Amino acid sequence: MRSLSNSHLYLKTIFSLRNSFMASSFTQTLKPDLPPQDLDDLLCSHPQKQRQDESSSLTGSNSNDSKLLLGSPTGYLSGESRIERAWAHWTKLGRPKLIVAPMVDNSELPFRLLCRKYGADAAYTPMLHSRIFTENEKYRNMEFTTCQEDRPLFVQFCANDPDVLLEAARRVEPYCDYVDLNLGCPQRIARRGNYGAFLMDNLPLVKAIVEKLASNLQVPVSCKIRIFPNLQDTINYARMLEDAGCSLLAVHGRTRDEKDGKKFRANWSAISAVKNAVRIPVLANGNIRHMEDVNNCLQETGVEGVLSAETLLENPALFAGFRTAEWIEGQEENTRDGNLDQADLLVDYLKLCEKYPVPWRMIRSHVHKLLGDWFKIHPHIREDFNAQSKLTFEFLYNMVERLRELQVKMPLYIKDSHVPAISSNA
Ligand SMILES: Cc1cc2nc3c(=O)[nH]c(=O)nc-3n(C[C@H](O)[C@H](O)[C@H](O)COP(=O)(O)O)c2cc1C
Repeated sequence: MRSLSNSHLYLKTIFSLRNSFMASSFTQTLKPDLPPQDLDDLLCSHPQKQRQDESSSLTGSNSNDSKLLLGSPTGYLSGESRIERAWAHWTKLGRPKLIVAPMVDNSELPFRLLCRKYGADAAYTPMLHSRIFTENEKYRNMEFTTCQEDRPLFVQFCANDPDVLLEAARRVEPYCDYVDLNLGCPQRIARRGNYGAFLMDNLPLVKAIVEKLASNLQVPVSCKIRIFPNLQDTINYARMLEDAGCSLLAVHGRTRDEKDGKKFRANWSAISAVKNAVRIPVLANGNIRHMEDVNNCLQETGVEGVLSAETLLENPALFAGFRTAEWIEGQEENTRDGNLDQADLLVDYLKLCEKYPVPWRMIRSHVHKLLGDWFKIHPHIREDFNAQSKLTFEFLYNMVERLRELQVKMPLYIKDSHVPAISSNA
């Protein structure tokens, strides 16, 4: 049932995407987008931009679980049952630990599949705008694509109206494992639109949104939050979300004002305090740059899993144990060439884009992130790339060949003790 629904969605999506803005084997005309200058504008900068078969998503294989899971929306379950149900669902998904964070224009289907191939256990979609999603079919088809291998999948929305979000969520619930509410976007566009981290100023509205979703959807609701400057406020916030029906909480350990991830270290001890204060599964986000960070974070915070964003863009093989040169400094004697580099990953990604078309602006963004260091050594190749108003896969594969001919040697490394986890499925 699920696979039929998925392939139906995917085929429908492909059909309507072929005629506009999407990367396909055909040449597409697009203005070149330059490398992101201002992350503040990039993040969440997307304003213009069938009900689940109950048994397929919510019935656990364990017969003890099924009493909890059958039935459906969580609304009328007691608090205790909701917590048990949250854990049963998490367990049914295989308790994913290594998760691709939501990233506007960057955690789209081919990138998610690439990360899954290299060790990611689950992934979030980019944030989708709930109102536009309900109103605009083209937006839906362009911005949300998925396929059978793309699970577990968390579909993220921004919203400030419970009814609108419910309508948007109902459209995606057959194709995902959580509907996620973005409560973390700190950017100007979110302030203007009154969503993301700006809902931290209106907690009764947040509560109403989560309650509405949790009591009407078949699929569980998750939330991604930022921390408050005051720890007790953060704890109260997390408990409120849990009481409202949130089944999974991802905590980005930075405040709304700490926008620059490179400048501000994520506060793992605040994440640990949240983990101790609630009973639903919790995920940590912030400062996950290689597998040592993953292990330290899991140990320090006690959370179920971690999300990574910025580092994954440069190194989608992070969760398989690979690291860029930046993260082996001082440990060179314990590391070796992993026989994989960012150009290999780009080629993998491009092949996935040929199979699952996405807007060219997303491909451009990934090229800059993956080959940023290579372009520093050979800026003329970057200039040539930026000068292309029409991108083609042929040009992109050719560009990789040119870099190879220039003998750029920039491998990803692995620690001697680490066995890379690469899946052949994705
Ligand atoms: C390009 C980009 C786009 C992002 N878009 C979203 C988004 O759509 N939704 C969201 O909740 N967070 C978004 N974020 C924030 C990340 O999910 C994550 O919370 C943040 O980058 C901290 O994780 P990191 O330290 O691993 O980068 C985005 C981050 C980046 C770099």
